[in-house]
Amino acid sequence: MCGIVGVVGNPEAQQIVLTGLQRLEYRGYDSAGIASLGAEGQLTTRKAVGKLQALLDEVATNPMGPSTIALGHTRWATHGAPSTTNAHPHTGGLGPNTLTVVHNGIIENYQELKSEMASLGAKFLSETDTETIPYVIAASLAHSADTMAQAVHAASKKFRGSFAFVVMKNGENNQLTGTRRGAPLCIGVAENANYFASDPLALAGITSKFIFLEDDDIATISPQGVEVRDATGKPVERPVKTLDLSTDLAGKQGYKHFMLKEIHEQPAVVSSILQAYTTADTLLPTLPMGSLNLAGVTYINIIACGTASYAAMVGKYLIEQYARVPVNVEVASEFRYRNPPYPPGGLFIAVSQSGETADTLAALEHAKAAGQHILVFTNVTTSSMARAAHAVIDLMAGREIAVASTKAFTAMMTTLSLFALQLAAARGLSAKEISTHITALRTLPNHITNQLTNTKPLEDLANHLTAASSMLYLGRGSLAPIAFEGALKIKEIAYIHAEAYASGEMKNGPIALVDKNLPVVNLATSTDGLFEKTVSNLKEVEARQGQVILITDTEGATKLDTHTRDKLTLLTVPTVPAFISPMVFTIPLQILAYLTATAKGTDVDQPRNLAKSVTVE
Ligand code: M6R
Repeated sequence: MCGIVGVVGNPEAQQIVLTGLQRLEYRGYDSAGIASLGAEGQLTTRKAVGKLQALLDEVATNPMGPSTIALGHTRWATHGAPSTTNAHPHTGGLGPNTLTVVHNGIIENYQELKSEMASLGAKFLSETDTETIPYVIAASLAHSADTMAQAVHAASKKFRGSFAFVVMKNGENNQLTGTRRGAPLCIGVAENANYFASDPLALAGITSKFIFLEDDDIATISPQGVEVRDATGKPVERPVKTLDLSTDLAGKQGYKHFMLKEIHEQPAVVSSILQAYTTADTLLPTLPMGSLNLAGVTYINIIACGTASYAAMVGKYLIEQYARVPVNVEVASEFRYRNPPYPPGGLFIAVSQSGETADTLAALEHAKAAGQHILVFTNVTTSSMARAAHAVIDLMAGREIAVASTKAFTAMMTTLSLFALQLAAARGLSAKEISTHITALRTLPNHITNQLTNTKPLEDLANHLTAASSMLYLGRGSLAPIAFEGALKIKEIAYIHAEAYASGEMKNGPIALVDKNLPVVNLATSTDGLFEKTVSNLKEVEARQGQVILITDTEGATKLDTHTRDKLTLLTVPTVPAFISPMVFTIPLQILAYLTATAKGTDVDQPRNLAKSVTVE
């Protein structure tokens, strides 16, 4: 959350920062700001509330003057409402040293630091935790530190929480200093200029060479070079990676929204996964497992947040059913603080599109410290989680820009399905049965494509749902997590309150909500042996005048009697083996949420209050 860009040594510094911030807007879009130092080291700052366009307008109206150094920030508000006062960069100084900072994350002990700094003469203007940073660094400079790196090092020891920040000393227009703990920060390396960014994407087209900082590294960049010191203050060489970011800048390619484009990319994503991770002839899974001995795995924790946690639940169903290994799926924010026992032979799996979600990363580190083998399913193979893992499964979904996850969810379920089969193979499931499931997976791209071609029934339903203030989503077995994901999607982008339950749970409480105003989306497939039970649950809704919406497969639809059929809104998906049902049933729910949101006119790609990458806890 929050995006940072810093440039030193480039006469286009301000423009590079503004372009970079536009690309980082997915990290937060409450407010944005930029600061630069002129030839004499004089500070100029511009800030605006709202989307980045407001800052671009502000800078166009009030140009900043030439400079070769600049810092910028796009904010997802934590401490203090979105306002120009709370927008970054923040400036503060003690004695001769005034500093300007941009920050991502949370300084948890900011209140005690504020009191301490106020007693030294600090004057706080904003409600942010960030504003303590320049003062604490200035205090270090005044007392013990000779260089900015030393001052940042000393100051960082006082900060609690997870954060990344970059700081500029007013009057010194030839260097920037940055550090990170938990939150991401990389350095873009180039000739005669160097860069900081929360994500390499910000610097696509500027450089392809990147250094990913480790926790508590302190980096100083200048036009002449980069110097990195580790947590002990010792100079270190971090590897420089070359990245090809060209495909990440592809834009919407004619689609109205990134979300719609990403929904349509799903057939290609599934094809890429199957091509990369299955054998063409024998149809067996080949996910890279590093040194992990799959046959020795006795217990699995799959830890994730949000949509990724629902993919993890699908993974649990498949792993337990086919590999017969017990699996605990848990949201990372709970797992990380409850000191769970780790059985010998335990495997820890983190599932994360971004690979940066703070809670998941912290849970991973907890498990790693306890000696667990760490497997990460992620879409960003340079992410913090990928770097901390023993083995990484690349989700191969391509960059996902829309805040509401779609193609990454399908990629997670597809790779976890392959993992279930690979584990099952190591535990003796026959190659014949495994190849049957992989054959089913191979039909998935076609089934998804077909569903994307006729969305008219979903459009009619979406128009009806614009009037709904609340909804229920129900599903059984491996479709229960899909109900959860459907409810999350409609909440996130259409702002309709939605609850999801395993269908059988409805009678234990949620049924009290059912009345003629409540749309209830039921998911039922004819291929998992649970169809009749789910139909019984929807009859219970019907008997209480709820608006029954049934999504079932074509075969399932034929099993309904006329009376039942007449009383509900019926949407069909193709009849497929139960192994791939979760992916097939996901598609109409994604489209339904998208069409409902567009009918309501919400900001589909950047819904209110959210950010794509959740790097605070
Ligand atoms: O990057 P991650 O997969 O770790 O993100 C986890 C959640 O923050 C994410 O799935 C979130 O729930 C999405 N907005 C869902 O659409």
